[in-house]
Amino acid sequence: MTEVTTSSNPLRDALDRRLPRIAGPSGLVIFGVTGDLSRKKLMPAIYDLANRGLLPPGFSLVGFARRDWEHEDFAQVVHDAVKEHARTPFREEVWAQLAEGFRFVPGDFGDDAAFETLRTTIEDLDKARGTGGNFAFYLSVPPKFFPLVVEQLKKHGLSEGPSDSWRRAVIEKPFGHDLKSAEELNQVVHKVFSPDQVFRIDHYLGKETVQNILALRFANTMFEPLWNRSYVDHVQITMAEDIGIGGRAGYYDGIGAARDVIQNHLLQLLALTAMEEPGSFHPKALVTEKLKVLAAVQLPDDLGAHTVRGQYAHAWQGGEEVLGYLEEEGISPDSKTDTYAAVRLTINNRRWAGVPFYLRTGKRLGRRVTEIAVVFKRAPYLPFESGATEELGENALVIRVQPDEGVTVRFGSKVPGTSMEVRDVSMDFAYGESFTESSPEAYERLILDVLLGDANLFPRHQEVELSWNILDPIEEYWASNGKPAEYAAGTWGPVEADEMLARDGRSWRRP
Ligand code: BG6
Repeated sequence: MTEVTTSSNPLRDALDRRLPRIAGPSGLVIFGVTGDLSRKKLMPAIYDLANRGLLPPGFSLVGFARRDWEHEDFAQVVHDAVKEHARTPFREEVWAQLAEGFRFVPGDFGDDAAFETLRTTIEDLDKARGTGGNFAFYLSVPPKFFPLVVEQLKKHGLSEGPSDSWRRAVIEKPFGHDLKSAEELNQVVHKVFSPDQVFRIDHYLGKETVQNILALRFANTMFEPLWNRSYVDHVQITMAEDIGIGGRAGYYDGIGAARDVIQNHLLQLLALTAMEEPGSFHPKALVTEKLKVLAAVQLPDDLGAHTVRGQYAHAWQGGEEVLGYLEEEGISPDSKTDTYAAVRLTINNRRWAGVPFYLRTGKRLGRRVTEIAVVFKRAPYLPFESGATEELGENALVIRVQPDEGVTVRFGSKVPGTSMEVRDVSMDFAYGESFTESSPEAYERLILDVLLGDANLFPRHQEVELSWNILDPIEEYWASNGKPAEYAAGTWGPVEADEMLARDGRSWRRP
């Protein structure tokens, strides 16, 4: 079986990376194929990849679920999902070729006969479509089913293919709900799959703007000299959503914003922002640097003063009534689940000692925006008359992750006129204006990488565990200290969060 290995020839690797990245003979099996993620993200991403010519002609997709469907029913479901959510135009010829490789296997995760059918289905596809035994198993299922599915794959001889083929497991978040459960899951998965066969999804790493953090930092000379405690006052990482929990009460309640988003997406953004330059772009080199950052993260001594959790409350927005979290369907009226979380972290190393990293996320906030703002110290001396710089803020470099993708640099400039007055201005880079190329959707990129065996954009189990290690004490503190602070839906979170920054003499950006 072929595994992902670190090549010893960097030059050849560099040249390889410049060729179009097209997946070789392969197929994908999706467990949990009837779920939202599959319909909204995975199926459209597969079609878009095929449409861009990045999948092999015999690519095959197998759906596994407890539904009384024939192959045709499954194909119809994929068709509808693609029509509704794909980003590239629908082309009959692409669809027809792709749909020939669709199969559906009905069954429970505990059903041995269904896993036998899956095995023969894969063997048939190898013969009929030349998939070469290369299959990835996508576990888009609640974590409580991971052990069973993984064991069934092993028991039915699916975790290893014929010689010269590969088998990979793709695992969706949430990867556990604390350190202990994550360690247990990792043990279960690694009993069956070697670390190089496991691809854990953090879809933020699949976003173009997130990958650009490393390009911005390490392909240029002008930012890196300032990227340290001598010049940076603090960093704010924000992931704000305007939506509520939608129909996800079953998943979200008891999990909350910090586990849902800070443990994975925001700590990954922190790691990419703070890490040292890796020796190369190989997964091991990148992971090594991210791990060093995560291991150096320090929690505040006073968790009460430097963390805040909130819960959205009923409000009227633009004449429309917005339900509070406790009024949402499926939420118990005394739930203490956080829909907003803000934490202050520091990083114990020479580059960052003493620089606060403020992380915040929330549902039903003012608007949907994700950004990383590196806020610089003020100039040590301003040789202007008093009043000239009253309207001058701190310099900042803002990586706009979404939705208005780009980078903004904020700095002071003289206001035109006969007196010396300095005010903030900004310089913008916007993807839409600078590039004609369109960004692939995160799941497109990640599914392609799985099929190529490229593990760069997938967190390793140590990263997942270190991230839980950071979050666990905060969750424990919250669990035994009161309840979340209220904030009206549509605002920027509880006043306690503003107070948290005010105590440090700072304020949140209003992106
Ligand atoms: C998911 C969270 O990981 O990310 C959701 O579980 C959240 O709660 C989603 O809504 C946001 O993703 P994006 O790509 O829309 O920012």
